[in-house]
Amino acid sequence: MGVFYVTTPIYYPNAPPHIGHAYTTVYADVLARYHRLLGDETFYLTGTDEHGLKLQRVAERAGKNPKELVDEMALVYKRYWAQLDISYDRFIRTTDPDHEELVRWALREMRSRGYIYKGRYSGWYCVDCEKFYSEGEYVVVEGKPHCPIHRKPLEWVEEETYYFKLSVFEQHLRKTIPERVYPDYYAREVLGKLDKEGLRDISISRPRSRVWWGIPIPWDPEHTTYVWFDALLNYLTGAGLLSDRGRFERLWSNVHHVIGKDILWFHTVIWFSMLEALDISPPRRVIVHGFLINRGLKMGKSAGNVIAIEDLVERYQGSDGARYVLMRVFNPGKDVDISFELFDSIYNSDLADNLGNLVRRVSTLALRKLGGLVEASGVDGRIERAVERALEEYASHMESFDVSNAIQSVMAALREANAYINETRPWEKARPSEELYSLLEAIRAAANALQVVIPRAAARTAAALGFELDRPDRGLDSQRVYKVRESPILFKKVRG
Ligand code: MSP
Repeated sequence: MGVFYVTTPIYYPNAPPHIGHAYTTVYADVLARYHRLLGDETFYLTGTDEHGLKLQRVAERAGKNPKELVDEMALVYKRYWAQLDISYDRFIRTTDPDHEELVRWALREMRSRGYIYKGRYSGWYCVDCEKFYSEGEYVVVEGKPHCPIHRKPLEWVEEETYYFKLSVFEQHLRKTIPERVYPDYYAREVLGKLDKEGLRDISISRPRSRVWWGIPIPWDPEHTTYVWFDALLNYLTGAGLLSDRGRFERLWSNVHHVIGKDILWFHTVIWFSMLEALDISPPRRVIVHGFLINRGLKMGKSAGNVIAIEDLVERYQGSDGARYVLMRVFNPGKDVDISFELFDSIYNSDLADNLGNLVRRVSTLALRKLGGLVEASGVDGRIERAVERALEEYASHMESFDVSNAIQSVMAALREANAYINETRPWEKARPSEELYSLLEAIRAAANALQVVIPRAAARTAAALGFELDRPDRGLDSQRVYKVRESPILFKKVRG
């Protein structure tokens, strides 16, 4: 048995999550469920990134204390994740006491090793990104520097600050990034940027007079910790670095950070350096994905093109449909242009017409022809080949984190099973036992594999057809007896 530790970015709770956040969170959930089923010691961490100027301002505008605001919003996030059946093991908040303690510990530790020093800073800052932009990075609109992402004017900031000696880690980064970033072209992208721009030390604190909503620097409380520095450390808190060293070592040996490509630099250059400064090995893998885009722009609050999670859940009749359409379009490399037309066609053709239809046809025939009792029999060679091939492909895609292709492999076997019914015409036979047994086996294998994406439909299928869900990698069986109880309609077709 192995170990599998998977994380999502912790989200800014200044607004509720949308399907862009769900894209990352469902994906990490699928990986976690897969490894749990394989029997790995699995730990899935998600949560909220609650400090910093952005939250401070949103709270001020709402006339609230930031803590009051983030308390409310953390509940909102948990509600959304419950709606999507996200099986996280811990929901971490950067205001959790054990996290704040870990941040103080990490700062002291880095300082005692000589990686933190005091200096002055000036530069152009984007509050929405919580990030400084240098010349060449920002865009100039009407003579003034603007954020390249949010297109809003940047703020000039000049102040005393603590620096982290990022510049000393260049060799370490060049050595470790290539083998740990997936897909690997993102590693090349980061190293390319490193070649072009080099490394400068980064500012990791803010004067309390400007940003008071943050973790005070332990030896100098007039400064608060930069929100990104605080946030990245959540991955150590979650694995229990200060509370259970043994468990931490186990989880950390196979940690997978799932992130969108917008925060790649933070999760490689900055994070790997922070870890090295603490004498902790870099993460096993950083798994990066592209954006969901809508009408040509990254879906997000600032672009005003958000699709709400509740709309997806409602349209696709629950969490399974919503999870499925998001995972079916999941693409590490490319941005995906989404629309309800696209999601409708995926939902209808894969879930309603293929899986749903097959389950309904087979259960109806089993009830009508065999009174629901389908006894052990060999599996037809054609079905056997289709299913075995699908399971092999599924496993190899899942091992390379390619969830979309994994589920498409299973869908191909189910299409083959539907074609098999059309051609063998079991409704014309008195006792089509072998056909129905073969088809039930195909459905069982598919439900085992697809349960990581559509857990509810898989469980309903198992209950209706009379089998127990099993590991996703279990192959076919010729020794079972099926007692089919009902012909369920798993997915009703959606009309545009
Ligand atoms: N708080 C930081 C992360 C700190 S992690 C130590 C942050 N938060 S965020 O709320 O802005 O969420 C960013 C993440 O949400 C992205 O990296 C991505 O995983 C996900 N997405 C947000 N919008 C998205 C799309 N339109 N498309 C795909 N993913 C999107 O950055």
